[in-house]
Amino acid sequence: MNTNLSGKRALVTGSTSGLGEAIAKMMAREGAHVVVHGRDAWRAEAVATAIRVDGGSATVALGDLTSDEAADAVARAAGPVDVLVNNAGAYHHASWFETTPAQWAQSLDLNVISGVRMVHRLVPAMRERGWGRVITIGGGLAIQPMPMQPDYQAALAARHNLAVSLARALAGTGVTSNVVAPGAILVPAVEQFLREIGKQRGWGSTWEEIEPTLVREMVPNDVGRLGHPDEIAAAVTFLASEHAAYMSGAVLRVDGGTIRSVA
Ligand SMILES: NC(=O)c1ccc[n+]([C@@H]2O[C@H](COP(=O)([O-])OP(=O)(O)OC[C@H]3O[C@@H](n4cnc5c(N)ncnc54)[C@H](OP(=O)(O)O)[C@@H]3O)[C@@H](O)[C@H]2O)c1
Repeated sequence: MNTNLSGKRALVTGSTSGLGEAIAKMMAREGAHVVVHGRDAWRAEAVATAIRVDGGSATVALGDLTSDEAADAVARAAGPVDVLVNNAGAYHHASWFETTPAQWAQSLDLNVISGVRMVHRLVPAMRERGWGRVITIGGGLAIQPMPMQPDYQAALAARHNLAVSLARALAGTGVTSNVVAPGAILVPAVEQFLREIGKQRGWGSTWEEIEPTLVREMVPNDVGRLGHPDEIAAAVTFLASEHAAYMSGAVLRVDGGTIRSVA
């Protein structure tokens, strides 16, 4: 399958590391001009440079998406994008009663409203042009929550819901809205946290020793491992392509079968 994104311009929010970086690099390899985004200029430039060295096309847009003014600046720097990947976000590992109402409010602003800000700024122009893709990164914890990080999990559930209402609002416009819902994906931040847990619980000292027990105890799934960022990037790239023209309001799970239910 050729996803051919040449001629398309894509903004991937939060693409200075982790999933966003993998998505930006894969979309660029498929021919899109990618706008790399984050708050840190050095990290964003490093990703954009790597894309250009690889023969792709990339520019940078910087800004903290919890601010309306910074979101304006990101939208201006991004220009008229055809594909918006709402990926920026952050998670912690605190328990329910350690998470204060103020932290809930911050988390919902960063993990939900940040994406809404970009939809308001970029999607009306897609609708006018009659073509566009909005791809929201959700997560299995939206559907199957754990006892920890309740604010983050509720934010993921909100992302799933708003992506579907957006799809309905965009009916007949040529612009689609879908969700990619990752399971536990081995980005550096996740690996560092899980290595610590593995050592504390005596599961081993190397990742190869820790992963099998960790998967069994914490994220049991049919494939028997954590996911890799490129596996999420492939789903996003597919949704951005013409091959996904008949998909809108869908939740595409990429989690090795972590979620056990049918719906
Ligand atoms: N990894 C997983 O297992 C997993 C599973 C399900 C869902 N997700 C979702 O996937 C997304 C990416 O996660 P990741 O694991 O790849 O994490 P990550 O490596 O920490 O990447 C987070 C990205 O978001 C950006 N960001 C953070 N706060 C921001 C803010 N206030 N304004 C603008 N940008 C901000 C960061 O950029 P700077 O720091 O440069 O500003 C960075 O590029 C998140 O939305 C997360 O909820 C991840």
